[in-house]
This record gives sequence, structure tokens and C-alpha cells, in this order.
Amino acid sequence: MKLFVFIGLSAVFCNAAEWQDRRFPDDFLFGAATAAYQIEGGWNADDKGENIWDRLTHTNPGFIADRSNGDIAADTYTNYRTDVEMMRQLGLDAYRFSVSWSRILPDGLSNKVSSAGLAFYNNYIDEMVKYNITPMVTLYHWDLPQKIQDLGGFMNPLFHEWFEDYARIVFENFGDRVKHWITFNEPREICYEGYGSDTKAPVLNRTDIGTYYCAKNLVIAHAKAYYAYVNDFKPKQGGVCGITISVNWFGPLDDTADDLLAAKIKRQVEWGLYAEPIFSENGGFPTELSEIVAKKSAEQGYKKSRIPEFTEEERKLVQGSSDFFGVNHYSATLVSATKHKQLYPVPSLLDDAGVGIYRPPEWPESASSWLAMAPKSMYNALTHLKNKYNNPTIYITENGWSETPHDGNYIDDGRVRYFRAALNDALDSLEAGVDLRGYMAWSLMDNFEWNQGYLERLGIYEVNFESESRERRPRKSAFIYKQIIKTRVIDP
Ligand code: NOJ
Repeated sequence: MKLFVFIGLSAVFCNAAEWQDRRFPDDFLFGAATAAYQIEGGWNADDKGENIWDRLTHTNPGFIADRSNGDIAADTYTNYRTDVEMMRQLGLDAYRFSVSWSRILPDGLSNKVSSAGLAFYNNYIDEMVKYNITPMVTLYHWDLPQKIQDLGGFMNPLFHEWFEDYARIVFENFGDRVKHWITFNEPREICYEGYGSDTKAPVLNRTDIGTYYCAKNLVIAHAKAYYAYVNDFKPKQGGVCGITISVNWFGPLDDTADDLLAAKIKRQVEWGLYAEPIFSENGGFPTELSEIVAKKSAEQGYKKSRIPEFTEEERKLVQGSSDFFGVNHYSATLVSATKHKQLYPVPSLLDDAGVGIYRPPEWPESASSWLAMAPKSMYNALTHLKNKYNNPTIYITENGWSETPHDGNYIDDGRVRYFRAALNDALDSLEAGVDLRGYMAWSLMDNFEWNQGYLERLGIYEVNFESESRERRPRKSAFIYKQIIKTRVIDP
């Protein structure tokens, strides 16, 4: 009998020891993320200027699936204290949110700074700091001042000057309390979706050069803001500044040389275009992609390549201009060099890549067409970045799961499963030596999901958009996440 008790107890202790090994470090930042246009509302409150999403949704309501907009959204402009109370209840270490450029600078330029805009973010940040929640601030999450767009927006090579002016004002006003900065959220979505196709504001749809010129101007603007911070603010304020890129995983459909190459090209199109200039050893755009575009441009009769080059000075400025790699990771796609036609019905993302994309039917699907639960996708992405870019410091700045407003709703088991799998990948990545410092769940609450309006929900808090107060209520995933944050283990 005694022997059985002993064996039983040692089994318990051994399991407990394994458990301990699978803990997230105490200083790992667990948080949640949102973005200004998706939650704030107050689209014309005080002296806020118009942005490109205000313009798009007001002039072309049919562009959004449910004809909605972010005019009120979750009304965080009024409800920010409630939001911070949610963060406190969850026990979040950190909260990632974005600053609305046209709320701070109504004209986009530094001639007029809105004191109401500054006051709003000051109050919001103070409220977080009061509860020991680390603010992580994104300077740009897709809501370009319309007046900057009227000058060409990201296509204008002077864009970096306007962005740097704005960034300095934000650093100066909030940098005493904000120590984690992200310049841009998801350059691919800004450039390819906004300028190189007709998917997002400003719907420029220049399929030939839009993506590439935007990409170049964007990474230069990023670097200018980064060095403004490093030289003029960091010495006193002592924070870090990086960029967030959407790094979904793209692996080969078949284990053939052709598919391996196709997957590599696809990664270059999807995120290498933005990551290579900043994080690679040599800087500049990815080599294979530049060669492909140069060749295609010549075939198409262009006298010079549609993908611009960096001057030596620009290349050096951009290379190395980040203290960390912010990763938005959601899913994976398999890539084929040959099977173009029978792939799942999302258009091949950039014609220049010339590859097919495929999703195995057994991967559980979310309410969003682009988001399926792919095995080990975060682990594959993070370990790839580690090996490719010399083990950069990484924060997962977004990761989450979408459901329709009706799917399960409060009992969001699909989301719980997804978070557990992703966090398991995060632990595996830590064990594999990835320098992963934090994880921000997308999203703290339901919000305006761009083209899909309010039809796709990603919040761990539900928001009732019918109620005047935009009432928030926690879903099951909120309770599970709270436990994970508290215990630092996935399955407490
Ligand atoms: C990434 C974007 O940054 C965010 O704005 C969006 O809501 C989520 N993906 C979900 O689509």
C-alpha cells in the first residue's frame, strides 16, 4: 500500500515538474491588442481630422459587407475607463493599441496639434499605468489622415517627413510612460491591400507599382521615425521601437524543389518585402523577388523595373532599424509551383509571385476566409524568423480567432482551442531558443473588422453594438486567458 502511495505521489510530482518546465517566464508580457479606427469611434469628436477609412466608408458604404463604419465602433473614446477595467480584470501585463494620426494632427501635418487628442491618449495611458499595465503603442494602424492621402499618401517620397514629424510629437507627449513603440502595423496590408490592389483604403489599385513603391517609402519612414526615437528620445525615455509585420506561415505543398522555391518566393512577396530591408544582413528588397519583377517588367515593356531600388544611403538607413520584430500571426497556407487552378478560392495574392496557394480541408476554419487553424503554424513562422534574421527579439503583437456574431458567442470554444494551440507553439518556440518576449491576443473586444464590418468577431469580450453604451461582456476565452496569465501555464 505504502509503495502505491509513493508511486502515485511521485507520478504527481513528476507531472508537476513537467508542468513547471512548460511555464511562460514571469517577465513574459501577456496582453491584448486593438487599433484606433476599429474601436475608438468619435470619428469627428472635438477637432479630429478625417482619415482614409472615414472617407471610404462615408463615400462608398457598400465597400463594407454590412455597410457599417467605425464612426462609433466600440466607442472607446467615451468608454476608455471601462476598457482599462477589462484589462485589469484579465490581469493583462500589457495592452497594445494605436494612436490615430488625425486625432493628434487634424491636418496630418505638424502645424496644428489637437489638445483634445493629446488629452484623450494621456488619460487612457494614465489609466493603464495606474493599474500597472504596460502600454504598447502603434503609431500607424491604417488610418491615414485624408489630407496626407490627398498628397499621395505612401506613394509620395516625402511621406517619411510627415510621418517622422507625427512620430516625434507622439514620442514627446507620451514617451515618459510608453516604452514599447511600433511604427507601422502590417506593411503588406497597408501597401498591397491599399495601394497595389482594391482591397482596403485608399483603394488605389495600382497593381503594377503600388505595392513596391509604398513598401520602399514605408520602410524609409519607419527608419526615420526609429532614428528620431533612438537619437532624441530613447536616451531619456529608455524604451524600444520596432515594427509589426504580418508573418503567416507559407510552406511547400509537396516536398519538391519547385514547391520549396515557390514557398520561398511567396514568403518574400508576403512579408520578406518589408522584413528584408530592415532585418536582413544586407538590407534591400529580397533578391529572388526583385529579379522576378525585373524580368517581368522587361517582358511587359517597362524601361525600368517596377520594383524600385534603394540608394546605398537608403539601404544603410533602413537596415538594422528595429529593436524588435513585431509579428502578427494567424494562420498558414501551403504553396504550390504548379497547381494553380484547384486551390482554395482566395485569389493568388500577387501576380508577380505566380504561385498557387492551398489549404487542406481538415484544418478547422474560422468565420474569416483567410483564417484556418493550421498545425504548428506559429512555431514554423517564429523558428524561421529566428534562423533567417539572426535571432531577433520578437513580440507576437496579434494572434486570434474569428467567429460570426452567432457562433457560440459566450462559449467560444473554437477561440479557446486556437489560443491554447498558439500558446503551445509559443512555448515550443521559447524552448527552441526564439527570443520571444510577449504575446498580445487579438482582440480585447469585438471591433470593426474592416471590409467585414461587424460580421466577424475576434474579441475575448463581446461588444453589443446595438446598445448605446456599447456594453462589453467577457466570453469564455477571457476567463481562460486570465487563468493562463495568472498561472503562466496553458492548461492550469
Ligand atoms: C490584423 C490587423 O492588424 C487587424 O486590424 C485586424 O483586425 C486583424 N488582423 C484581424 O483581421
